[in-house]
Amino acid sequence: MSISAVSALKTPMAVVQASNDSVLEPAPPSAARRIGEVILDVQNISLSFGGVKALSDISFEVREHEIRAIIGPNGAGKSSMLNCINGVYSPQEGSITFRGKTFKHMDSHAVAKMGVARTFQSLALFKGMSVLDNIMTGRNLHMKSNLLMQALRLGPAEREEIKNREFVERIIDFLEIQPYRKTPVGRMPYGLQKRVDLGRALAMEPTVLLLDEPMAGMNVEEKQDMCRFILDVNDEFGTTIVLIEHDMGVVMDISDRVVVLDYGKKIGDGTPEEVRSNPEVIKAYLGTSH
Ligand SMILES: Nc1ncnc2c1ncn2[C@@H]1O[C@H](COP(=O)(O)OP(=O)(O)OP(=O)(O)O)[C@@H](O)[C@H]1O
Ligand SMILES: [Mg+2]
Repeated sequence: MSISAVSALKTPMAVVQASNDSVLEPAPPSAARRIGEVILDVQNISLSFGGVKALSDISFEVREHEIRAIIGPNGAGKSSMLNCINGVYSPQEGSITFRGKTFKHMDSHAVAKMGVARTFQSLALFKGMSVLDNIMTGRNLHMKSNLLMQALRLGPAEREEIKNREFVERIIDFLEIQPYRKTPVGRMPYGLQKRVDLGRALAMEPTVLLLDEPMAGMNVEEKQDMCRFILDVNDEFGTTIVLIEHDMGVVMDISDRVVVLDYGKKIGDGTPEEVRSNPEVIKAYLGTSH
């Protein structure tokens, strides 16, 4: 996709998608895109797997409401970085501060409860389950009733289920996948499966959304759609986004700031323009197939 193609998408989105009765409770448009204080602070993270140093002394911060990209050649440590942030990996060195709370390692469930959701590079969906049921799995965090109450459909559990289903239906509308709501995810085109994965993450009502290559393997049209949804989520709900992406046109166009990793080291950090003209970044990219 050309840079201008994505630029063209940027402005009208909030208008197109704005909905007065959305249960996703969008932030006021003016406030949503105002870049705020540091919400996520990654400090001196080092992570090794045996002899492989996946991350070496990585520090960067993410501000409220911004779209922060992480780029770098294959094996640079991008996914490992997200795995440290959301508690899948436990770094040997360093710490992460989220909304003022510092941790070296926290289990994934606790991180999710604090408001961090993510999508995965390899889809982590239940292929035999419908779109609706897959996205419902993202609501588990918000369920107060236990499994037995849900199975017996006891009053409060049933009311809770109805409320959560309504919420999920709104997400399905928002992502424009209504015709597929009852379709098993495994039967959908790959690009739409990625959209369902985004829906599952949105169902968690995250403050920070970590996206690991949300556009990988997509055709141009699917990429344009995904860009539009990412911009909408950021714009309408004020969700802070950390995005790993290989398509440089997309990264340069939709991100506010970019971190560049190479062989586990940070070699660049700044606005898309700053990063694009950084000699070390150019060298890393010219030396690879990217
Ligand atoms: N669970 C693991 N066990 C062993 N090594 C790992 C593990 N996860 C990552 N690595 C290694 O850490 C390094 C960084 O991998 P990572 O997946 O973070 O890179 P990446 O930048 O996401 O690459 P890609 O663009 O290909 O997705 C690689 O050398 C990889 O082989
Ligand atoms: Mg990766």
